[in-house]
Amino acid sequence: MKNQLVIKNSKILSSYSKITKNIVILTSSGTKLLGAGKDLFDVIGVSYKKTSKAANFTGKKGQMLDLLTPNNIEANRVLIFGIGEEKSKSPKDFSKLGGAIIHQLISLKQEDVIIISDEIEPASLAKMAAGMKLRHYKFDKYKTKKSDKKRSDKLSITFQVENKLAADKAIKAEMAIVEGTILARDLMNEPPNILGPVEFAKQASDLSKLGVEVEILTDKEMKKLKMGALLAVGQGSVRPSRLAIMRWNGGKKDKAPIAFVGKGVVFDTGGISIKPAGSMEDMKGDMGGAAAVIGLMKTIALRKAKTNIVAVLGLVENMPDGNAYRPGDIITSMSGQTIEVINTDAEGRLVLADALWYTNERFKPKLMINLATLTGAIMVGLGQEYAGLFSNNDKLSDNLFAAGQKTKEKLWRMPLSKEYDKLIDSRFADMKNTGGRYGGAITAAQFLQRFVKDTAWAHLDIAGTAFAVKSDETNTSWAPGFGVALLNRLVLDNYEE
Ligand code: BES
Ligand code: MN
Ligand code: ZN
Repeated sequence: MKNQLVIKNSKILSSYSKITKNIVILTSSGTKLLGAGKDLFDVIGVSYKKTSKAANFTGKKGQMLDLLTPNNIEANRVLIFGIGEEKSKSPKDFSKLGGAIIHQLISLKQEDVIIISDEIEPASLAKMAAGMKLRHYKFDKYKTKKSDKKRSDKLSITFQVENKLAADKAIKAEMAIVEGTILARDLMNEPPNILGPVEFAKQASDLSKLGVEVEILTDKEMKKLKMGALLAVGQGSVRPSRLAIMRWNGGKKDKAPIAFVGKGVVFDTGGISIKPAGSMEDMKGDMGGAAAVIGLMKTIALRKAKTNIVAVLGLVENMPDGNAYRPGDIITSMSGQTIEVINTDAEGRLVLADALWYTNERFKPKLMINLATLTGAIMVGLGQEYAGLFSNNDKLSDNLFAAGQKTKEKLWRMPLSKEYDKLIDSRFADMKNTGGRYGGAITAAQFLQRFVKDTAWAHLDIAGTAFAVKSDETNTSWAPGFGVALLNRLVLDNYEE
């Protein structure tokens, strides 16, 4: 699951003539070239001013100047990229720029490149490196023919920087986010025959190598805990359900953790209320909430965050079968509340009902955030640009919103209100699992709220943003890894010592 973009640091090079790699220089807006880039032009013996002028190159963001076969050096190409005014740019702008540069280098079939970036701040450079790695990501492990692989894996990038120590540190911190995002993408892209609940749980267990404490509950153990809602969803599958519990204890010993809970439906056929065939294959991505949460835990562990976090993943497969749960069934959740099943395709809320209750009871978290590809209704409301944000706590909601603005994983707050509750009242049980067509994303959220007591809680409905998204500068994957950078930003900005 690795691609080959290597990012190295190097000291200022003493002699350009010896460099065999092709060279990319990043320049700021304007016709002036500073630092090591200027030195290189002295070696080549051409005037940067004249060359750039002739090519109409002004150093604006996204511009590229290509010097083919320059004199006096081994490298057969020098490319100059404009970055515009550094100060006016957001961190996300730099990761986008990195993505755009990688795209160009791939199109030009570059394999070994040195980037002269001594004029760029370490933090900006690190964002750029992150954007490069995210753009370079591809998932083609199931292509057996070389010709089917879109491009070579060989792309090695070396940054030449002013301050290696500072650049190393900044890049390392960003790579923690990249690694978490790539884990989320890989799990999302993996086909459902390969990644079942047990296999997903194994991925969680693997994080113990990084110092994460991991426990996996089997279906039998969940039965003892009376998790009747989660287990009902999985009972039609030959693959047993799992609950993965991950803990990162980087904060003070007795400090209440913050908790993340993920919907991990490895495949959602709809069950007995079976879905239509069109695009059903996309339902391998119905573990997008769990993928974001496990990705976050990887990031948190890699950067050794100073905070206490628990993460809980409800891992099930929703299948039609002789043993499957059915419409009309009344199931008892771990909380003791009973649920009449109206539609077996409204399974995510059942999984989360028990996962949220368990998390709240066992860990008494300071706050809980769940992520789920929960409803088609949120896509009707918000399309694929924003994820739905539901919360019983304004402060938490504001913090999430702000984090999303920064990482460009945008959230839009939706209402919770007790008036909606009567839509999920049941004739036979404490509640039913669907609330009809109107306000479908809201009634789903109202349902979840019945399992969080008065703990500060937020629910992110990521059905529209977790997969089948349009490609952009930093992502060409079916699944972008939505939520990893966002949650990491939230933790970093608000809940770290
Ligand atoms: N996993 C789906 C929601 C979904 C749909 C996510 C499309 C991403 C893309 C969820 O389990 C579901 O099927 N929800 C139903 C609920 C309904 C039966 C009340 C829906 O949204 O149609
Ligand atoms: Mn469903
Ligand atoms: Zn689902």
